[in-house]
Amino acid sequence: TQTYLITLLPGDGIGPEIMAVAVEVLEVVAKQEGLSFEFTTALIGGAAIEATGEPLPAATLDACKQSDGVLLAAIGGYQWDNLPRHLRPETGLLGLRAGLGLFANLRPAAILPQLIDASTLKREVVEGVDIMVVRELTGGVYFGEPKGIFTTETGEKRGVNTMAYTESEIDRIAKVGFETAQKRTKKLCSVDKANVLEVSQLWRDRVTAMAKDYPDVELTHMYVDNAAMQLVRAPKQFDTIVTSNLFGDILSDAAAMLTGSIGMLPSASLGATGLGVFEPVHGSAPDIAGQDKANPLAQVLSTAMLLRYGLHQPKAADRIESAVLKVLDLGYRTGDIMSAGMTAVGCREMGRVLIEALA
Ligand code: NAD
Ligand code: IPM
Ligand code: MN
Repeated sequence: TQTYLITLLPGDGIGPEIMAVAVEVLEVVAKQEGLSFEFTTALIGGAAIEATGEPLPAATLDACKQSDGVLLAAIGGYQWDNLPRHLRPETGLLGLRAGLGLFANLRPAAILPQLIDASTLKREVVEGVDIMVVRELTGGVYFGEPKGIFTTETGEKRGVNTMAYTESEIDRIAKVGFETAQKRTKKLCSVDKANVLEVSQLWRDRVTAMAKDYPDVELTHMYVDNAAMQLVRAPKQFDTIVTSNLFGDILSDAAAMLTGSIGMLPSASLGATGLGVFEPVHGSAPDIAGQDKANPLAQVLSTAMLLRYGLHQPKAADRIESAVLKVLDLGYRTGDIMSAGMTAVGCREMGRVLIEALA
């Protein structure tokens, strides 16, 4: 059998805790499905800064490039927040995405019936929600030039970032948006700020032009401020959302709350080569790190996305997703998704019951 080389990037904060659970789950599923994995753990973020002085060592990027898939937990923490920009953990993550050409970030947000009461929104608002946010990941205001803090002629400092997209950058993410919608309910909503921003005008023009190649997809456009409101007002109107880097970052955190907790949401960061990074939507949660309180399910579901989208092993992915549903059916809840009558568990205990559920 083929051996899959997987690079593990546990990172910071709760990262190592949730990664440990995901790897245990993957090992059990591997045995069940007759798959073979070889894991390499590499440094990123604050952990890499401490060990090597930089947030994305060349060895880490190389290890990722040589692997069949990358599983990332999370990076960041208060202790690195005041470092110069190029040394920050976040810069390491952005470098990884850019370095691997991962321009498309798929962020599914579907409410599980078991967690309806964990959402802060009313049952009738969230019941049946099933959204896929397709976020552009290597362009826009995150990467545009010029960027920096400059000094003006009057001696005042001026912070600058540039929101820019080329036609080809828009086209390749729009294509992912249309194709994703085609596999779902064929409804695509492109979110922009074309009423104000030129970059969004170009975005809207290109997405509109592409619609003729996908006559079966119903394309709509929405301004991002309205989209933020509509997501919490009536989320069921959305199926697939395609949007730029920053808007997708913000809207996917908002969409997380429809599903009860950001601790539930996985994502897949994909490029042109087939190599992907699979990572939760949430961050390193420094407020609960080291306390065995983290919800490992976003990481575990990211592992299912690795199997499904990265390694094309849908049966193994199904096994993991079923085990997640089963532990929720059995009433196990970490603090972030706790509700009345359920059994409170920590991160490790959630891992243990997942392994039981897999058996
Ligand atoms: P965060 O997502 O880390 O945390 C936001 C809130 O959600 C916190 O209250 C946290 O406890 C909770 N939370 C997040 N994940 C959870 C989980 N699995 N289980 C239970 N609760 C969970 O966002 P933040 O606090 O804004 O950022 C913290 C650090 O993480 C920052 O350094 C930020 O830059 C970084 N960050 C990294 C990533 C990433 O690695 N992809 C994503 C977002 C933020
Ligand atoms: C995310 C995070 C990252 C982003 C940060 C940590 C660079 O918020 O993955 O959603 O903004 O993309
Ligand atoms: Mn984010």
